[in-house]
Amino acid sequence: LTGPIITVDGPSGAGKGTLCQMLAAKLNWALLDSGALYRVTALAAKQHGVALDNEAGLEAIAAHLDVQFKVSNEQSGVQVILEGENVTSNLRTEETGAIASQVAAVNAVRAALLERQRAFQQKPGLIADGRDMGTVVFPAAELKVYLTASAEERGQRRHKQLLESGNNASLAGIIEDIRARDDRDMNRAVAPLRPADEAIVIDSTNMSIEAVFDQVQQAAKRAG
Ligand code: C5P
Repeated sequence: LTGPIITVDGPSGAGKGTLCQMLAAKLNWALLDSGALYRVTALAAKQHGVALDNEAGLEAIAAHLDVQFKVSNEQSGVQVILEGENVTSNLRTEETGAIASQVAAVNAVRAALLERQRAFQQKPGLIADGRDMGTVVFPAAELKVYLTASAEERGQRRHKQLLESGNNASLAGIIEDIRARDDRDMNRAVAPLRPADEAIVIDSTNMSIEAVFDQVQQAAKRAG
């Protein structure tokens, strides 16, 4: 039933999403985007009017999450269906990310999502993308990667993406948001963002995503 796992953890904007998609496509393995689960929980809480300080309410939302991830050929990438409604376009916004990181700091929410994440383990293998994949969710993973980059570089990449999609936002503001999210993710009491002891740490500040991909592939070969 179970296959090998490669975990990829790191702060937001380091390139984990792109790297994980490249790895999953190359190896033909399944992909767990754990951030999407926290984002969907954030959207569901908003939709049901559950306040961010209502821990029992958030736990119930996470435990009963009615979500489907659908691979679609017409639309690019995975479509996310929450309670029958396609929420894909709301999922990746800065606002949803900010709420997600607050929801993710609640211990009961993390506990409620744990088994759902572990259920993604499958043959021929799984690429797990998140903050605590190597430290908490899949501690026995065959290969653990921690991908990071400076906040300035991550801010610039995000700024460029926004401009390309026709959105304007101040670079300084984006970098500030990234630092605030890093701070929340790294300094929370439960499952804080940090490299697993055995993780290979890659700083992509001055690297192309292809170079990062190559380095991980080499490590995967060594790990067998
Ligand atoms: O990776 P992404 O930006 O989609 O994640 C959104 C938020 O969800 C993160 O800022 C983080 O607070 C939380 N998260 C988490 N643990 C994970 C994945 C995401 O706490 N494994």
